[in-house]
This record gives sequence, structure tokens and C-alpha cells, in this order.
Amino acid sequence: MAHLWSGRFAGEPDADLFAFGSSFRFDRRLFEDDVTGSRAWVRALARAGVLTADDAVALDAALAALAADAHTPGFLDGDDEDVHAFVERKLVERVGEAGKRLHTGRSRNEQVALDLRLYLRRRLPRLRAALVGLIDACRAQAVAAGETLMPAYTHLRRAQPILVAHYWLAHAAALRRDAERLAAVGDDLDALPSGSGAVAGCAYAIDVDALARDLGFSRVVANSLDATSDRDFVATFLFAVALTAVHLSRLGEDIIVFGSEEFGFFELDDRAATGSSLMPQKKNPDPVELVRGKSGRLIGHLAAWLTTLKGLPSGYNKDLQEDKEAVFDAEDTLAGSLAAMTIVVSTLSVRGAVTTRAAGGFMLATDVADFLVARGVPFREAHEVVGTMVRVLGESGRGFEDLAPGEWRAFHPLFDESVAGAVTARQSVEARQTPQSTRPSAVAAALDELTGWLANQSETSGRQRG
Ligand code: ARG
Repeated sequence: MAHLWSGRFAGEPDADLFAFGSSFRFDRRLFEDDVTGSRAWVRALARAGVLTADDAVALDAALAALAADAHTPGFLDGDDEDVHAFVERKLVERVGEAGKRLHTGRSRNEQVALDLRLYLRRRLPRLRAALVGLIDACRAQAVAAGETLMPAYTHLRRAQPILVAHYWLAHAAALRRDAERLAAVGDDLDALPSGSGAVAGCAYAIDVDALARDLGFSRVVANSLDATSDRDFVATFLFAVALTAVHLSRLGEDIIVFGSEEFGFFELDDRAATGSSLMPQKKNPDPVELVRGKSGRLIGHLAAWLTTLKGLPSGYNKDLQEDKEAVFDAEDTLAGSLAAMTIVVSTLSVRGAVTTRAAGGFMLATDVADFLVARGVPFREAHEVVGTMVRVLGESGRGFEDLAPGEWRAFHPLFDESVAGAVTARQSVEARQTPQSTRPSAVAAALDELTGWLANQSETSGRQRG
């Protein structure tokens, strides 16, 4: 039990309570960031004249050597309370007396806030790159679909024909918002908390602006009391993760439903499905179900974290230590889900013959009504006429395609010979006029735009992706 407060206490802490309060078993993940922050703090102390140049050089060299040691198996081990205590212990072991000067003017309260900001800043691009990979898989599906048709649903009832490409671009659109949202977490965390001390600020003349520049922050926090307990950036991150997981879950639900025997639109690749130990015919979408399931856990992290925050009095409270396991698990779980979905989507096949066949029938009712509107009939009246047609035809098991020209006219005199050729799924998508619509030329333009966006991503984050 290595602890940092022996002077004030005559006795030792209870071993079980010490273990209960310790965070080293999970916050060792912040080791690299703790060293980064500490090296910058050494420079800041030296600039303020608090450390001699010799001490600063010795401390910096020792911290650099510790960072290099991190790769040695078993190095990140110990019964330390947390990663900050671990680094300090190792430092003192290495340089003796000078190591004991590192913590001058600094508190673990600001240190942990700094470390977590540095950690997330370094890890966000990986998650974002994984998200971009999935968006790219959606783009590839859109390309492969060409101008194949499928039904779009509202209320899970057939609504109107769309291009299969339009469907994939819809998921890509949601995932792109997630990518931007993840990037925005970087703005939230972009403030240096150092110089806040334990709560009231630092008693040494630290040049916090220089320290912020040194660590790559664009600003310094506004208030030390707020800063030592501000974990808004954690909430922002957990929200961005939870909403991404919700989008993955909805995509997963589509894949599960559209892949069922009842729909038969999608076929999972053998690599992306599982069999049953009992029923020989089964091909189950287990990986996708698990992604859908994990969204519950990720929403849970956000709800749990907001709940932890809401009752805290001002200033640092130990409750805040709960931030780390939430962040780490959210990161790992989302990364796993994104990797799984990318494999599923990029290996999935769409049964174009089935989706095309499903994209006709009464789904064209709006187009039949629009045919009358184009001939001067008010839309409300046309809606009524076509509604009657659907009811009457439905009763005898027939469809629009079964009607002879005379039968069309019986429903409304303005139906002429051109109606049968005008009312097709193809004409329906061609009839859309707006840029966000499923009109094939609009979809092609949207696909181009997405391709351009993706090319831009690999340029800006090529480092992380490679
Ligand atoms: N392990 C602690 C945490 O994660 C570091 C800060 C501890 N500060 C304190 N006064 N107990 O929040």
C-alpha cells in the first residue's frame, strides 16, 4: 500500500478500503498522459524559477526514461493508489530527492483532469477513423447498388419506392453527424486545467498560457473551483458515443429485419452470421444483435455519469473517479461495435430482384394521385379517389398493374392511356425534385459528395487510419 499522505496520519489505512478507493488497476491507462503532463509541469516550474535548471533536467530525463519503460512487461504494476502516485514513486526511485519536488504547486485534482483531457484528445481520432471506415462501407454498398429499387417504410409499412443507394446513404448521413460530434468533443476538452491547484489556484507564478501552448491547448480554464471538478467533456464524449451506438443499433435492427425470411432483402455473409447448435437451418445475425445490445450499455454510461455528477457539491469529490471506467469502457465498446458493423456491412449482399419486386404495387398510390394532380385535380380529391381504388382493388386481390384503361377511367375520367406507363417505381423515383430526394441524379450527386468527404477524411486523419 503505497500512499501519499503519511505525515498527517499516525495509522495505516484499512487495506480493503484502500483497495476500494484505488484506481490504479484502471487508470494506469493514463500513464502516458500523466508523464506528458508532468514533463510539461517540470518545464513550467523551471520557467517560474521554482525548480533549478539542474533539477528540471534530471526530472525530465527520468520522466522520459519512465515513459520508455512502459513497454517492459510488468512495469505498470504496483499497489499504488493511482497512476499519479505510481509515477511519483517511480520517479523518486530513479532520481531520489529531486523527484519529490515534482508535485510542487500541483494537486492530483487538476492533474487527473488534465490527464483525462490529454487521453481523450489522443484517442478520439481512432474512434473517428473507425466511424469513417463504416461510413465508407455504406458508400461501397451504395455504389454496388447502382439504381436498384427497394421500398422505403414508414411505420414499418411500405411507403414509397427509393433507390437502395439512397437507403445506404441515409445511414451514412447519420454516421457522419456522429463523426462531427466526436470531433466536437475535442473542442470541449480543449482547455488547460493546470494552475487550478486543489481548488483555489496555484501559489506559484506559473505561466499558464505558456503551459497551455506547451501542451497544445488553445485556452486555459476560467475558474479553478469549476475546473477541478468539471467533467463536462466526459459527458459530451459519452453522449457522442451513446448516440453513435443508437445509430448502430438502428442500422443493426434494419439488417436483422431486412435479412429475415419474411423480407429476404439482405443476405448476411457466412463470416458475419452464426448457426444454431440445435436447428440446422438457422443463420443468425448474432454479431448485429450484440451491437444492438451494446447500445443499452453505452446509453447506460451516459445516464450513470450524469447521475454521478448531479448531486456533487462544488470542488473535487472522489465520486469523479468514476469518470475513467465509463470513458474507457465506452471507448472500447464503441470501437468493438464499429469494427463488427464494418465487417457486417462490407460483406452483406442485397437481393436486388427481391427489393425491386417489393418496390411496386400500392406503394405507387401517391404517384397515381400525383398523376391526377398534374391534370388539375386538387390533391385532397385525388387522395380520396386513389384511396377508394386501393380499397376496391385490395378486396379482389388486384393491383394498379391489373387495370385495363377503361377500368382506370371508371375511377376518374382524367385517367388516360398514359397512366399505366407513368405509374411505375422507376417513374416514382424519377419524379422526385429535391436534392435530398431519391431521384437517381440526386442520389448520384449525394454519393459524389460523400466520396469527396471521405477522401478529405483520409487526408486529415491518414496518420491515425494508417
Ligand atoms: N484517482 C483520483 C481520481 O481519479 C485522482 C484524484 C484524487 N484526488 C484526491 N484528492 N483524492 O479522481
